[in-house]
Amino acid sequence: MADQYAQFGEDKRLSEIPALRWEEPPEGPVLVLLDQTRLPAEEVELVCTDASALVEAIRSLAVRGAPLLGIAGAYGVALAAVRGFDVEEAATALAGARPTAVNLAVGVRRAQAAHRDALARTGDVRQAAQAALAAARTLHREDAEASARMAGHGLALLDELLPGGGHRVLTHCNSGSLVSGGEGTAFAVALAAHRAGRLRRLWVDETRPLLQGARLTAYEAARNDMAYTLLTDNAAGSLFAAGEVDAVLVGADRIAADGSVANKVGSYPLAVLARYHHVPFIVVAPVTTVDPDTPDGASIEVEQRPGYEVTEVTAPQVPVAGAGGGIPVAPLGTQAYNPAFDVTPPELVTAIVTEEGAVSPVTAEALAELCARSRQV
Ligand code: MRU
Repeated sequence: MADQYAQFGEDKRLSEIPALRWEEPPEGPVLVLLDQTRLPAEEVELVCTDASALVEAIRSLAVRGAPLLGIAGAYGVALAAVRGFDVEEAATALAGARPTAVNLAVGVRRAQAAHRDALARTGDVRQAAQAALAAARTLHREDAEASARMAGHGLALLDELLPGGGHRVLTHCNSGSLVSGGEGTAFAVALAAHRAGRLRRLWVDETRPLLQGARLTAYEAARNDMAYTLLTDNAAGSLFAAGEVDAVLVGADRIAADGSVANKVGSYPLAVLARYHHVPFIVVAPVTTVDPDTPDGASIEVEQRPGYEVTEVTAPQVPVAGAGGGIPVAPLGTQAYNPAFDVTPPELVTAIVTEEGAVSPVTAEALAELCARSRQV
């Protein structure tokens, strides 16, 4: 296992940095990640030469966000295959690296199935490895296409729900090009509104404890010259009360068959606020995030993360070490409750927007129909 950090060359413009890419240097194939734990302070690449390095990158959130986790998982299987590691073992480790975003297991299984099929058909490990890589590349491309279609459907829905234009949209966590093969999910809709001249303001929740909103969404909004304002998660209530929010747009990590939505912790309170203030709460996610095998919200496994993420502020550049390597902000020994996600029940979700169109109202039947339509394509 040989991870290494490489600073971006000065000639690379921000807009050219992909969240992830496959490369084949003479030393052997690698998966190169933009290390999201270091953003926005530093843009550094994390080079994974095997699946175990990728598992670590997934756990540490160097690579994150549901659709991108699926793509990364698929490339991870390909990486194990082309480098001659045990593919089945790598697939199990990758699929289990984080439990909530169903896309991770879906992406891993897709590359694994392509590998198994090719191996059974040809008996040739090299051809099987190439089949896994082709599956990962296809998933990557499909996600970019899905992202563009979600942006189109999402903007059409926003325009329909808010005919006056000049949308003021609140978002939580990060759902842009850092989580996708394309421009993302919820963020891609806001970006489409911005490009159409119809985004008045993007309100960005900072998203404690790991600050995906402040570090990543603000970074992406700035990169795209959007009118955005950062707020602490606690300030959302008074923003709604002041009538400053026209719609909430969030992504999803898993959508159960009944329409329950698991997304970054803090999404559910926003849905409650939105309902109280008669503001649409819109979830944007690819069909791969809908999990027909998870019947309801209670069946979604919510990842519990280490307490030090709450009791310490982590800043990789600052060499002060608490248990998690960060600056302690609570008395030593403080226990913390740190679920990474929460679950919003379908009755609080105005619409789920996918690449196949929007579902509203959100019902099990409508979701099942959407998934069936998507399988026929
Ligand atoms: O813990 P993270 O940063 O991986 O959580 C990501 C989110 O919760 C996103 O909102 C979600 O993956 C949807 S983005 C398409």
